Amino acid sequence: MRILLVGGSGREHAIGEALARGGAKLYVVAKHRNPGLVRLAKDYGLARETDVEKVLAYAEKFGVDMAFIGPEAPLERGIVDVLEENGIPALGPEREAARLETDKAFARAFMERNRIPGRKAFRVFDYVSEMRSWIDDFGKPVVVKPIGLTGGKGVKVVGYQLRDNEEAKAYAEELIRKYGRVLIEERTDGVEFTFQVFSDGKHILPMPLVQDYPHAHENDRGPITGGMGSYSCSNGLLPFVTKEDYEKALETLKTTIEAMRKEGTPYRGILYGQFMLSRDGPVLIEYNARFGDPEAINVLPLLKTPLPEVAEGIVDGKLGKVEFEERATVVKYLAPKGYPGNPVKNLRLEIDEEAVKKAGARLYYASIDENFTLLGSRAIAVVGIAGTLREAEGIAKSAVPHIRGELFYREDVGTKESIEKRIRIMRELGKEFEPNSC
Ligand code: GLY
Repeated sequence: MRILLVGGSGREHAIGEALARGGAKLYVVAKHRNPGLVRLAKDYGLARETDVEKVLAYAEKFGVDMAFIGPEAPLERGIVDVLEENGIPALGPEREAARLETDKAFARAFMERNRIPGRKAFRVFDYVSEMRSWIDDFGKPVVVKPIGLTGGKGVKVVGYQLRDNEEAKAYAEELIRKYGRVLIEERTDGVEFTFQVFSDGKHILPMPLVQDYPHAHENDRGPITGGMGSYSCSNGLLPFVTKEDYEKALETLKTTIEAMRKEGTPYRGILYGQFMLSRDGPVLIEYNARFGDPEAINVLPLLKTPLPEVAEGIVDGKLGKVEFEERATVVKYLAPKGYPGNPVKNLRLEIDEEAVKKAGARLYYASIDENFTLLGSRAIAVVGIAGTLREAEGIAKSAVPHIRGELFYREDVGTKESIEKRIRIMRELGKEFEPNSC
């Protein structure tokens, strides 16, 4: 089967590798030539992923049987609808269904009218005065969110990026003036985790849980990034997520898929629930309409079922079973110095791929060109996979010295100390539980 992969970051390198491993002939369209994907692809087109007409032209030129959409921005442009109208099945939700990610006001209202579990208090405002008085009356700390896509960088939380509700009102006013509307939500305290599932519109198949490290620097400090690394455990849970909480989060995603179908906008593709585990259980922070980056790099190397088979099952509405190896994973992203605010660019990296292999680690290329120069975003992910988290973390860390250049990374991703911190946060919130071993 000839499959066109749209996108060229680390997530897409992991998707491309899983498609090729599963027997697909891989074709790629992305805005840069990712060195990992260049090696795997039969042919490679250069275009912005949001340039739907160009992507369609490449799909037709390459004569592909199916397309697999990596990032969210082309979904918002209706790339799946356009490809399907032209006879090319595509993996990813259609434009209306992708609104779960691309329109946060839609997502919250959808949860409310369908009584999806894991909801929180929210309001959407078009007027500054109403927004200000609602926040005053609400009294509790809030989260301020732009309605549309902002590459994960527009959300601000009182107590973190915003000092208090006064600053929240000022930021919300800025967003109303810029975009015409703003979403205000109740803040939920706890620890975040990622739950990704495959869905064909009816059935839902879960992937192992993952925890992402969104802050740029050690000990969860610094600006929010796309994610500096992530880990997963061999049992598919996380140390602080009990089986009961897992089932509750799965129920949120199941009822979402059912309600989307009932509303006439069946959701096919990867649904990513970003949850906050609160003292009272998982609360949905956000839906994403695609794999996470880096979270895809944790789960896809563990996939035992061929990904092309899973992709066919999704687009045909006949998703069967999906199996994963029961192993722990740690991903550490190496990013250009100064990322995310002011990254160095156009500098060349020296990468000893043989030494990385000898260390037992894997590499996934991201925002780096074919000649190994930095393009400004997260550059390379190093991945350790092993029976235990401790071993996986050691493997990932041992690969880092073999990649030299103007880079930094978070040493603490997947370490015992950082996980104990998360367990402590949950205990301090009053949650009683026995941590899972990982
Ligand atoms: N790692 C966060 C995301 O993919 O949205």
